[in-house]
Amino acid sequence: MRRKVIAGNWKMNMLPNEAIKFIEDLTPLVKDTKNEVILCVPYTDLFYSLLTAQNTNIKIGAQNMHFEESGAYTGEVSGKMLKSINVEYVIIGHSERRQYFNETDESVNKKIKEAFENELKPIVCVGETLEEKEAGKTVEIITKQTELALEGLTDEQVKNTIIAYEPIWAIGTGKTATSEDANNSIKEIRNKIAEIYGQEVAKSVIIQYGGSVKSSNAKELFEMSDIDGGLVGGASLKAEEFSKIVNFE
Ligand code: PGA
Repeated sequence: MRRKVIAGNWKMNMLPNEAIKFIEDLTPLVKDTKNEVILCVPYTDLFYSLLTAQNTNIKIGAQNMHFEESGAYTGEVSGKMLKSINVEYVIIGHSERRQYFNETDESVNKKIKEAFENELKPIVCVGETLEEKEAGKTVEIITKQTELALEGLTDEQVKNTIIAYEPIWAIGTGKTATSEDANNSIKEIRNKIAEIYGQEVAKSVIIQYGGSVKSSNAKELFEMSDIDGGLVGGASLKAEEFSKIVNFE
């Protein structure tokens, strides 16, 4: 049985003092869960969050990284830098980065490889736009993005990659994919992984759903056969609401 992984994506929100308070508030609310709890926080919150989350079951991730180890890349942060302060996870290829910051399938692939070089666990986002959905291209788009993201990885690395299926039209819009549609899309992603890496690898990959997940729809989504938890944006900014998503059962 795959575990459920619930990750918050704070995006460009939360100052260090707010991050510390959030984690202090969240800690007792999620201490008994068997689900994995991750908070992906802005760079400026990482250090404070890691310290505050010490000796709790809350894990800390970043929201992006560069694919080079070091060098003349003003404003960028490397995987090696994240690892040096004990960050465990990193979101790669979020649709907002693909849309606003020229992230491509190629840079996503390079970043995933660099994340593994530094023993960081990537949470890799894939998802279709509304136009692609309406043109009936969802499966084509998300399986291609998955294939290109994972290109050249070892079986072991693929097993340790978390994929977040996030339909772009569902992000921050209050519109959620139906649990059946989300489950079917995730099954297609899993089938693609099985085709390339074999059933054993495909069965162990965690594939989350993301896009307007909240406490009122988490249970229905996360109980589907192939949905292994969620990547949560807006609803991860309030400790109590986020804890209800973590404790969805
Ligand atoms: P949302 O964001 O939950 O606010 O829709 C999800 C995400 O972008 O990861």
